[in-house]
Amino acid sequence: MSDQKTYKFETLALHGGQFNCQDTDPVSLSRAVPVYRTSSYLFKNAQHAADLFALKETGNIYTRIMNPTQDILEKRMALLEKGVAALAVSSGTSAVFYSIINICSTGDEIISAINLYGGTYTMFNSILPQFGISVKFVTPDNPENFRHALTEKTKAIYIETIGNPVLDFTDIKAVADIAHNAGIPLIVDSTFTTPALLRPIAYGGDIVIHSMTKWLGGHGTAIGGIVIDSGNFKWANNKKFLLFNEPDDSYHGIRWAHDLGDLNTAAFIIRMRLVALRNLGACISPDNAWMFLQGIETLPLRMERHCENAMNVARYLSSHPKVSWVRYPGLESDPAYPVASNYLKKGFGGMVVFGLKEGKKAGEAFINRVKLISHLANVGDAKSLALHPASTSHSQIPEEEQLKAGLKPELVRLSIGLEHIDDIIADLKQALD
Ligand SMILES: Cc1ncc(COP(=O)(O)O)c(C=O)c1O
Repeated sequence: MSDQKTYKFETLALHGGQFNCQDTDPVSLSRAVPVYRTSSYLFKNAQHAADLFALKETGNIYTRIMNPTQDILEKRMALLEKGVAALAVSSGTSAVFYSIINICSTGDEIISAINLYGGTYTMFNSILPQFGISVKFVTPDNPENFRHALTEKTKAIYIETIGNPVLDFTDIKAVADIAHNAGIPLIVDSTFTTPALLRPIAYGGDIVIHSMTKWLGGHGTAIGGIVIDSGNFKWANNKKFLLFNEPDDSYHGIRWAHDLGDLNTAAFIIRMRLVALRNLGACISPDNAWMFLQGIETLPLRMERHCENAMNVARYLSSHPKVSWVRYPGLESDPAYPVASNYLKKGFGGMVVFGLKEGKKAGEAFINRVKLISHLANVGDAKSLALHPASTSHSQIPEEEQLKAGLKPELVRLSIGLEHIDDIIADLKQALD
């Protein structure tokens, strides 16, 4: 793995985790990553089986916990994010949930930016409280809001890089400093930026999450999530994190931050794999792991075009007489630009949102009229997509909460794809006209 770290991003996107196909499949010497469609793996003998379960030896046991195709995906993503380890799971949603319950127990709190993907907001606002974990929401435009919300019980701060759907951008470094001064980790959902545009670990992010369903997969063909551990957060001897410091009765009395030897730095991911994933079971299928590997191979190229097309769409909409406002973090006039431009040196992502002068009804009419652009609930596809979040993906959030998060009722969300820009603009034009 150490040699692989010297390669550039584009090279790692193609080869990360599988530089030597002799190692991954010495029998067939397959160049492409094989799909290991198996539920379980032979033990060499009883001792081998016992050693694997006791973590005395690493190796495959059962595909709910690990799989060789998934392993290559995890190694590739750890390299691309410059983390020490990664864990792929069945969806971005389970990646978020497992990250939180890997740290928090009943009575604990997290502080989260309020401008979240609707499903994450609902999980934080309605589901986590069922487990006795409470979430304080703050507006992330001023990092000090996170500091003011800290209490003795706070176990983590949670943000999205570019928030879904309002496209605000949070000052990651400033929030990371606040988290670290309080002795807690910063968890960053970087779905909208991908490692091709931003690597949150460089700015103090401790745990990075992606819904791979979006740009990493890139073709709208599979659901999956991944969590990357920076290896930087010191869980050992931090009294806030008993789950990492006290013997775990559910796993041979192991103390996750102490007893893993060389792997202690990856304690977060190892605990998540062997406690949350093993016992709650939201594993990724080998086929979907393969789909994501395939997508990641072209991620850097695709992101360049997503960003270029989105910038052109943002400029076009800004000049259209029927459009009342446009948000794109790459527009110099955008409120997110001053912070986003310090972080996003390779482009500002593929999302553009806007409102029409004639309001919500006109937005709905626009969505009904687009022809090339697909009306559906996803982002990050190679094809351009449109949605009205207030009545769909974010509709479970009460309207006043939507407004607090900056989600206006008329907001139309566009995920700009890889079609020729002339065709995208022509479709927008005919729908607006
Ligand atoms: C920013 C963000 N995080 C997480 C998720 C959840 O991912 P998934 O749909 O893969 O469960 C989404 C889904 O839209 C998202 O936009």
